[in-house]
Amino acid sequence: MENNTNRYKKDRVYIETYGCQMNFSDTEIVSSILINSGFSICDNPDDADAILLNTCSVRDNAERKIHERLIHLKRYKKQNKALVVGILGCMAERLRKNLIEEKQIVDLVVGPDEFRKVPQLIEDARTGTKGIAVKLSRVETYDDIEPKHTSGVFAWLSIMRGCDNFCSYCVVPYTRGRERSRGLESVVQEVTYLREKGFKEITLLGQNVNSYKDRQSGEDFADLLAACAKAAPGIRFRYMTSHPMDMSDKLIETMAEYDNICKYIHLPVQSGSNRILDLMLRGYTVEHYLGRINKIKELMPECSLSTDIIAGFPTETEDDHKATLRVIEEVGYDGAFMFKYSPREHTKAYAMEDDVPDKEKVRRLNEIIELQHKVSKNINEKEIGKSHTIVAESPSKKNPQEWMGRTDTNKVVVFPSLNGTKEGDLLNVKINGCTSATLFGEVF
Ligand code: 5AD
Ligand code: SF4
Repeated sequence: MENNTNRYKKDRVYIETYGCQMNFSDTEIVSSILINSGFSICDNPDDADAILLNTCSVRDNAERKIHERLIHLKRYKKQNKALVVGILGCMAERLRKNLIEEKQIVDLVVGPDEFRKVPQLIEDARTGTKGIAVKLSRVETYDDIEPKHTSGVFAWLSIMRGCDNFCSYCVVPYTRGRERSRGLESVVQEVTYLREKGFKEITLLGQNVNSYKDRQSGEDFADLLAACAKAAPGIRFRYMTSHPMDMSDKLIETMAEYDNICKYIHLPVQSGSNRILDLMLRGYTVEHYLGRINKIKELMPECSLSTDIIAGFPTETEDDHKATLRVIEEVGYDGAFMFKYSPREHTKAYAMEDDVPDKEKVRRLNEIIELQHKVSKNINEKEIGKSHTIVAESPSKKNPQEWMGRTDTNKVVVFPSLNGTKEGDLLNVKINGCTSATLFGEVF
């Protein structure tokens, strides 16, 4: 028996990740847990003994993608009867039994707070026992686990898990559970370790990072950000995601104070109508939101801004929609993630009639996207002639002679590569062209 167990432990696991940065960061944690248990991670599903899908539930189309992928995976399982297929993350928590009972192909289902059980559940699946582990925890933060970083230059660092905001449209508090923060010291230790290993950029991650709190000392997100910036002066720090209610003056002042905190804020507005914001249970008004934006612009005029917007929330009228368009113009976002409202089971908004017809949602969404592209293009055009320091990220997908990197303000710059350009190079570029999504430049 023991021999068998050892054999399974050499198994190769392929993990496919869907959804937000938190999921990509979670995949690095699961990979590390598996490697520590003797498994290896492979990057081709054809070579795998186990295929795990780390899933997202935030919108219906994210879940649909997973169901389609499971149909494909049936073929793999026909060719390799011993193949283990597992669902991790938000969908696991949401659909539990359905996935195992209805989708005969799924062997294990593991929610975001039970990743430590993945190795055992893969082994159980190899001996024919299907397993479910979807309990949510009030304490699990995986802070003792060193993620298996996919890059040696850019690191995700998850500082908190879950969310207590319960926005009426959002399934996250139900799939990822209650909010809990890692200790400040443990985060700073990890930052110091990453600096010693030669990392150049760290993104602090959480569903709502600005409500971060060290339980023992009471220190908040601004304190944490300052402690990280001080501990690793050579590293650029970014963070995701912020909530407008918790975007304090202290945090904005801290960002302005440290050169190595990137001047970029993702601040989801969701809607420009106070009536809709109220129904969304966002806890702020458009006036409060714009006040935060003004404070950011006052202290950091160079700071770039992005947002999330939902089109077609229940009862949204043409006037509400127009109010959203006005906010886009008034703020002048550098970029935005724009979505059609998608009703999610368990949420408060699910009880409301989804009364904006799909065709109308699509029309409003397209109008939002079109306006945002125009705004981004105008902002990017102002970058032409300016210089930026960027960190080289990867060869450009379209042209292998070119590379891409990001400015401090999170703008993608594509540039002709030099001889020997490599990931992590700090380069000075002069911008000479743009689209709404990309800047083009020359290294100097
Ligand atoms: N429908 C559409 N968009 C949603 N988001 C979250 N829940 C929904 C939903 N039910 C969007 C929000 C959030 C982003 C991560 O996803 O804009 O900020
Ligand atoms: Fe969802 Fe709102 Fe929490 Fe963001 S802040 S994860 S939208 S509940």
